[in-house]
Amino acid sequence: MARLGLWHFPPLMLLLLLLLGLFLDAAAAAGKGKKWGGDGGGLRFRREGGTFKVLQVADMHYADGRSTGCEDVLPEQVAGCSDLNTTAFLYRVLRAEDPDLVVFTGDNIYGADSTDAAKSMDAAIAPAIAMNIPWAAVLGNHDQEGTLSREGVMRHLVGMKKTLSRFNPEGVEIDGFGNYNLEVGGVEGTQLANKSVLNLYFLDSGDRSTVWWIPGYGWIKASQQAWFKQTSLSLQKNYRNEEPRQKEPAPALAYFHIPLPEFSSFTASDFTGVKQESISSPSINSGFFTTMVEAGDVKAAFIGHDHVNDFCGKLTGIQLCYAGGLGYHAYVKAGWSRRARVVSVQLEKTVSGEWQGVKSIKTWKRLDDEHLTTIDSEVLWNRGSNDSYEIAIPIEWTYIFRTATYLSVANCQGGAGRIMTEAEFRMGTASDASYSYLCTSCVLLVFSIVIVRIKKEQDALSNVTLCKWAWMSKEKVCNVCAVWALPL
Ligand SMILES: *[C@@H]1O[C@H](CO)[C@@H](O)[C@H](O)[C@H]1NC(C)=O
Ligand SMILES: *[C@@H]1O[C@H](CO)[C@@H](O)[C@H](O)[C@H]1NC(C)=O
Ligand SMILES: *[C@@H]1O[C@H](CO)[C@@H](O)[C@H](O)[C@H]1NC(C)=O
Repeated sequence: MARLGLWHFPPLMLLLLLLLGLFLDAAAAAGKGKKWGGDGGGLRFRREGGTFKVLQVADMHYADGRSTGCEDVLPEQVAGCSDLNTTAFLYRVLRAEDPDLVVFTGDNIYGADSTDAAKSMDAAIAPAIAMNIPWAAVLGNHDQEGTLSREGVMRHLVGMKKTLSRFNPEGVEIDGFGNYNLEVGGVEGTQLANKSVLNLYFLDSGDRSTVWWIPGYGWIKASQQAWFKQTSLSLQKNYRNEEPRQKEPAPALAYFHIPLPEFSSFTASDFTGVKQESISSPSINSGFFTTMVEAGDVKAAFIGHDHVNDFCGKLTGIQLCYAGGLGYHAYVKAGWSRRARVVSVQLEKTVSGEWQGVKSIKTWKRLDDEHLTTIDSEVLWNRGSNDSYEIAIPIEWTYIFRTATYLSVANCQGGAGRIMTEAEFRMGTASDASYSYLCTSCVLLVFSIVIVRIKKEQDALSNVTLCKWAWMSKEKVCNVCAVWALPL
C-alpha cells in the first residue's frame, strides 16, 4: 500500500500548471460576480429528500424513427421493433425515476443512418423535453456522421428546448464541441442555497484520432484538460472561501463518451456490472484520468461507447462507470436488455434538520424489461470514506510517461529542440559522454527510480541509495539525476 506522496507532483509540472492557472484565471475573472444559477440553469437539490438524481442515457443511436429497425433483438422481436422502442423505453424510465437531469452521453443519433440529423436529434431527445426535465448532452463518435458536422450537431443541441448543454466555454481556446460544466445548488432557503454543492463536467471526447499516425478513437485534449483543471480549481476555491466556508471541495461527476484507457484496469473481481467486450479507448493516453486525480473533486466519471459493458470500477479514488447501451438501433447482444444508469446524490442533514453538503453518491441501472428491473445498486462515494489513503497506487504508466516526457523536453533540450550545451547542463567536466547519451540515461534512470519506488511501495529508499544501486555509476550524472529525481 503506497500513500499518495509528494512524488506525484514534480515541481516543474506544478509550475507549468500554476502558470497555466494564472493565465486562465484572468480569463475566468471576466465571468465572475454572477448570481447563483448562472452556471447550472438553476439546478438544485430537492427539499423533500435532499437528493439530486441524474439519468444517464448512453448510445441511443437514433436514426429515422419508425422506419429504422432494431439491431440485436431476438428473431421473434424483429418485426415491429424500431427507434420508437428506444423512445418508449426512455419515457418509461423517466416516469419511473423522475430524475432532476437527463444526460445524453453521445452517439445520441446514428448519423450514417439518419436522413436529417437535426430531426433525428429532436426525436431522440423528445421524451426529456416532453416531460419538462432539464437535460444536457455531449457528442459521441457517430453523432456527426449524418447531415450535420460535429460543430453543427452541438449548435443544434444548444438551441433545443429545456437544454442546459453549452457549446464551449466563452473566451477559451478549446478543442472539441460541447465542453461545459453545470453547478447544482444546495436546497433553497438553506445555508448552501447559493453555492454549488455538486459539480458536473461535460467533455467532448472526440470521434477519431486527428493525428494521422495514431490509429483509433479520439481523446480528451490538453486544452480541454486545462479548462477542466481551471474550472475545478476555481469551483473549489469558491466553495472553500465564500460564506459559509466549506472544508472539503464539493464532489463532482464527469460525463463524456469514449472510455479512458484506465477503464481497462479492472478484472471482474473489482467491478460491479459486466464487461462483455473490450474497452474501446483511444490508442494513446492523453492523461485525463491523472488530471482528474490531481484535481481531486471528481468522484465518478460516466461514459458510453461500449454498449455491452455496464460496470463501475474504482481506481485511485475515482469510480469509472459505463452506462450500457440504451438504443434499439445500437448493437448489444440479442436477449440482453437495453439499460440506463441512474445516479442519486444525497445531502447530509444536521441534527436540527437543515440540509448540508453532499453525503453520498449512489448508482443503479434500470433494464428495459417488463418490470423495469433495478440492478447493481451500489454506493459510489461517501463523505469521509478516506479513499485517498485506502487505495494502493497502481503502476501508472500515464504518470511515468508524462514524467519522462517533461524531463526530456524541459531539461534535455535547450528550448529550440537542441541538446543543452555543457554550460547549460552545469555538468562540469563530464567530457567524454555525449549529452544526448546523458539525457537518455537520466530519463532511463528516472524511469527505473519510479518503477523501483512503485514496486517497493514504500518511501524508505533514498535517491542516493537508488543512484548507487542503479546501473549509472558516473557520480556527477547521478547527482544531476538525483536532483531531477528528488521530487519523485
Ligand atoms: C417494440 O415496441 C413494440 C410496440 O410497442 C412492442 O410490441 C415490441 O415488443 C417492442 N420490441 C422490443 C424488442 O421491446
Ligand atoms: C441566496 O440568494 C438569494 C437571492 O439573491 C437571497 O435572497 C438569499 O438570502 C441567499 N441565501 C443565502 C443563504 O445566502
Ligand atoms: C485516513 O487514513 C490515514 C491512513 O490510514 C490516516 O492516517 C488518517 O488519519 C485518515 N484520515 C481520516 C480523516 O480518517
